[in-house]
Amino acid sequence: MDLRSQEWFGRTGKDGFIYRAWMKNQGLPHHLFEKKPVIGICNTWSELTPCNAHFRDLAEAVKRGVWEAGGFPLEFPVMSLGECQIKPTAMLFRNLASMDVEESIRGNSIDGVILMCGCDKTTPSLMMGACSVNIPTLVVSGGPMLAGRFQGRKIGTSDLWRFAEDFKTGKMSQAEFVAAEACMARSIGHCAPMGTASTMAAMVESLGLALPDNATIPAADSRRKVLAHMAGIRAVELVRENVRPSDILTRQAFENAIMVNAALGGSTNFIIHLMAIAGRIGVELSLDDFDRLSAKIPLLANVQPSGEHFVEDLFYAGGLPAVIRELKDFLHNDAMTINGRPIGDNCVEAQCFDRNVIATVEEPFKPESGIAVLRGNLCKNGAVLKPSAATPELMKHTGRAVVFENIDDYKARIDDPELDVDPSCVLVLKNVGPKGYPGMPEVGNMQLPAKVLAQGVHDMVRISDGRMSGTGYGTVVLHVSPESAIGGNLALVQNGDMITLDVEQRLLHLHVSDEELAQRLVKWQLPELGYDRGYVNMFIRHVTQAHEGADFDFLRGASGPVVKRDSH
Ligand code: FES
Ligand code: MG
Repeated sequence: MDLRSQEWFGRTGKDGFIYRAWMKNQGLPHHLFEKKPVIGICNTWSELTPCNAHFRDLAEAVKRGVWEAGGFPLEFPVMSLGECQIKPTAMLFRNLASMDVEESIRGNSIDGVILMCGCDKTTPSLMMGACSVNIPTLVVSGGPMLAGRFQGRKIGTSDLWRFAEDFKTGKMSQAEFVAAEACMARSIGHCAPMGTASTMAAMVESLGLALPDNATIPAADSRRKVLAHMAGIRAVELVRENVRPSDILTRQAFENAIMVNAALGGSTNFIIHLMAIAGRIGVELSLDDFDRLSAKIPLLANVQPSGEHFVEDLFYAGGLPAVIRELKDFLHNDAMTINGRPIGDNCVEAQCFDRNVIATVEEPFKPESGIAVLRGNLCKNGAVLKPSAATPELMKHTGRAVVFENIDDYKARIDDPELDVDPSCVLVLKNVGPKGYPGMPEVGNMQLPAKVLAQGVHDMVRISDGRMSGTGYGTVVLHVSPESAIGGNLALVQNGDMITLDVEQRLLHLHVSDEELAQRLVKWQLPELGYDRGYVNMFIRHVTQAHEGADFDFLRGASGPVVKRDSH
């Protein structure tokens, strides 16, 4: 076994001295540097990423496994992105964090790596970076929170959106709001519904890059540490067997992930992150793959935001293996996974213990699942909508556009009693795309006008070039591409234009002639984005559009694990 780490630790003379001597200040005996598989533990622990704040503890369990298997664990931090803390949006920094991960892995003396992933962007950023290096890699997710309890009922992040409406209409006081905060996030872990964090954890499990049950064991459950320990053992074996992400992340694996995500009612953010990961590992994937592959998959998981339960309940009902087993007639069951067994074999004995949480294919929770990819003159390169989280009556709808030029315009006018809007209108929000905001924030499920909410209406068709939280719901058209900030037709919509959404026909149509649109485009001016230096300037210049995964153009692909030069 040729160990990459020996290019550092196995050296003689000055170079070996330099690569080992300073490491020894941590109390490491010399024999550790002699041909032991070094497992890097890539940690996104941060107190500013509360969903990952238990990761130092969890990393200790990983280390125990690595030691047990005869490896040498070395933990290192990378940029962590706290979805609820970092402004203007964590998505602005996903690609930056991926660069940190890629260079930290490549530049250091490690043979294999465990990615400690939790809060939304921490999974795709670590996966993207690791795929561009392609040394043996295994993901350990942090696990979901326990469901909250508020005023006698279970709550999770999706309830925030309901609470916000109740607060706006005066049904809920500020004091109740504060009480609900503490009730909702009462344990370690990431968001309790099938939001983006759990969607990402399920993504890595269905891709085969994590051990079975990685997606659903609650963070607070002792079995999460057992999983971390077993992952530590397995990482050492992966190095010995030389299994790399490119061996696991095949086209079949990506197709499996898309189908499992459909059955789970996973986040729309899944698309943008999976596309970016596919771009790094060199698998061709298009928006149409998501629609085509998920079209035949019914919704099996009765979990918020598409259903009523939480990821914790999904674990008790049998976890992802039980969902995967249920999908056996659809999936590529022979796709290899990181534990050395095909995904079908891993799940062949999985049982469902609660049919209220995991339904059968024959009697699904809802017939429609997945993510619908829309086409039309308003989104020449596509837009997406999550049917399972939408209102059935609105999925075929024509309405008058009420246009907001940007997020500031929206905030200034949405609750204006004079706003000319009724529940049949279509709310259009521009300039919240990758370049326009910048960073494509989760504002697409914009709150309805106060005067509409006051009528007891809770959903309207909404269209934007932004994203929405994986915990969000509603008849929300997202990821419109090309975005308005680069002159996509979304930029040309005016108040009063008629728009048709027809999900069954996969159509999003603006009832304005091509000639009229061409005239409007002549008058249209490129918005002043206002960042003339620094990372954000680079982001705006290099970020790709939503339908391409919003990675940087220069980050697609991989550079492999080889570093040609030494540090001294
Ligand atoms: Fe971190 Fe939801 S805020 S997972
Ligand atoms: Mg989110």
